[in-house]
Formats: sequence, C-alpha cells, structure tokens
Amino acid sequence: MLILTLESTCDETAAAIIDEQRGVLGSTVASQEELHQKFNGVVPEIAARAHLERILPVIHETLAKANVELKDLSAIGVATTPGLAGSLLVGLVAAKTLSWLLNLPLIAINHLHAHVYACQFAREETIFPCVGFIVSGGHSHLYECRDPFSFEYMGGTIDDAAGECFDKVASMLDLPYPGGPALSQLAKTGNPKAYRFPRPLLKETRIAFSFSGLKTAVRYMIAGPGQKEVTASHLSPGERADIAASFEAAVADCLVGKAIQAVKRTGVPRLCVGGGVASNTTFRHQLEQACESHNIECLIAAPELCTDNAVMGAIALERLRAGHVESLDLDVRPGLVRHSQ
Ligand code: KG4
Ligand code: ZN
Repeated sequence: MLILTLESTCDETAAAIIDEQRGVLGSTVASQEELHQKFNGVVPEIAARAHLERILPVIHETLAKANVELKDLSAIGVATTPGLAGSLLVGLVAAKTLSWLLNLPLIAINHLHAHVYACQFAREETIFPCVGFIVSGGHSHLYECRDPFSFEYMGGTIDDAAGECFDKVASMLDLPYPGGPALSQLAKTGNPKAYRFPRPLLKETRIAFSFSGLKTAVRYMIAGPGQKEVTASHLSPGERADIAASFEAAVADCLVGKAIQAVKRTGVPRLCVGGGVASNTTFRHQLEQACESHNIECLIAAPELCTDNAVMGAIALERLRAGHVESLDLDVRPGLVRHSQ
C-alpha cells in the first residue's frame, strides 16, 4: 500500500509518500517562514494563499523524489484538523480532487495525533498504548492514547502554548521569527540559573500548563513594570543569553514535570512526544533523564519530524487498514476537539 499524505494546517505546505513495507519514499516541506517574518507571526490569509501556490509543486516534487506516479498510489491522506481554516482547505481540496480523479480512498488525519505518531518511526513495535504529548506552536497537550484511533485528552495549556511563549519571548529579545530555534541557540551560551522565573502550576496535581504568566515575568525582567515598549537593546549579550537560558529552563521544568505526572496517572509507562518545541535540545535531554529515572520509555520524534511535516501523516495508513475512509463530503475542523475521534 502506497499513500500520499498532505499537510497544510498552518504555515508549512508538505507532502510525503509512504509505503506500508518500505517506509518513507519521499517527503517535501515548503516553509513560509520568510512570508510571515515581518509580522512576527503567521498571517492566516497570507498562509492560505501561499499554500495555494505551493501545494501542486510540493506534490510533484514528492512524487519525483519517491519515483512514483499518481497511478501507483493506493490512498490519499490529508490533515483536516486542527489548524487555520483557509490553510486546511487548500490541502483538503487538493486531496479530494486526487481522490476523486484517481478513485482512491480519502483518509482524514488529525494533525495532533500525527505529531504523536511521528514517534512510530523511532520504534519497531507499535507505540500504542502510550501517553502522547504535543508541544507545538499552537498546542501543549497530553493525551492517553490506547490505539491509533482513541486519543483521550488528559489536559493541556489553559492559555498560551509552549511554542507561542517561545516565539513571544524571542520577539522581546529582538530575535527573528520563528523564535523557538533562535532563542534556544542563544540560550546555549547563557546561565539557566541566572534568573528564577516562575514554573506555573508545576506543584499542582492537575494536568495543565499556563505559560502566559511566565511570559509576563520575562517581559517585566526585560522592560521593567508598566513599560509599553519592550526592547532588549539595553541588555548586554550575556544578559540576553542568561534570560533566554533561564526562560528555557522554566518551560522545560513545566513540560517535563507534567509529562511525568500524566504518565504516572495512566500507569502506561511509555511517553511519545512530538511538535516543534520537542526539537529543543534542553527539553529533550531533561525529559529523557526524567523518564529514565522513573522507568518510562521515552520516545521523542526525530527533530526533522517534530516541526510540521507530512511523514507523520503515516497514521493515515492505520486508518486505511481499519477501514476509516471518508466520503467527498469531508470538511475541515479548524478548532481543537479534545476527545478522541
Ligand atoms: O509543530 P510546529 O511546527 O507547528 C505547529 O503545529 O504549531 O511548531 C512550531 C513551534 C514554533 O512556536 C517554534 O518556535 C517552536 O515550535 N520551535 C521551538 C524549537 N524549534 C521550533 N521551540 C523551542 N526550541 C526549538 N528548538
Ligand atoms: Zn504542528
């Protein structure tokens, strides 16, 4: 079975061709970073238009890389939830058109489930059951995952997502968008103990994150209370690096602490982590160490599979095998649906 998967939930246009036996035959990710940079965040209308321009070249490039023709495909998978409505629609219309023209099964992919499924490429046996942890630009959520079709929401952020917080703090430190990678680079030269930023909700028993207070604490540290303009120009390079490292340490403590708490609650000793922030090396090391000391099997998606891509859409093969095929009435669902589907 050979599947073409499409991903256009936010600002990456991606396609992959995955063979049930041979694995990934081709994968392409077209980033829109440069289009959104000057706005310091993703502009939905610009993202949708850029997907429209890129989706066909991305599909062609992926077919060429995989040395596959459209007639060789057995199914089309597409991420339909959650994401930006206009962006999701571009992928869905492309997938429906191919499914209709080639008379192939159409498979819906939940983008968050796919982020967890990226860990399947790091394990021979199935990753299920597991606790799934998504730490991305839009989401910081923990799920109890019994099988590829039942993801039960355990808890998540009550305000900002971890990645969003990285991006905002990076912007306060005058770093370019997307801030996560730039901030973690800067943090490498800083002292994580230089500033003691808050670890919201860490000591509470509920499975939840809150990053907006942490963001405000960093803001006050940089600009001083009550200042409307936030700029890091008055800080020395060493101070900026120390703030970055101390902030990163606070986020990592919250993420790692809650993930361990969630795993203990379920009794399932396997944690599968994906999403852009999971490519952060401080977080990865800290999580691996914590899991080791608690006897938890820790799977973190390979860095190139943490940020948005279509390879993680391989979860569509599981759906195809189980007969979860959609009709051409399939629609996008931009908002987050917390319970399994
Ligand atoms: O999963 P993703 O590509 O897109 C969403 O589905 O949201 O995640 C993007 C997020 C951005 O907020 C980006 O700043 C963050 O992941 N990110 C990082 C790192 N690389 C990407 N955050 C911290 N450290 C990194 N190395
Ligand atoms: Zn994502």
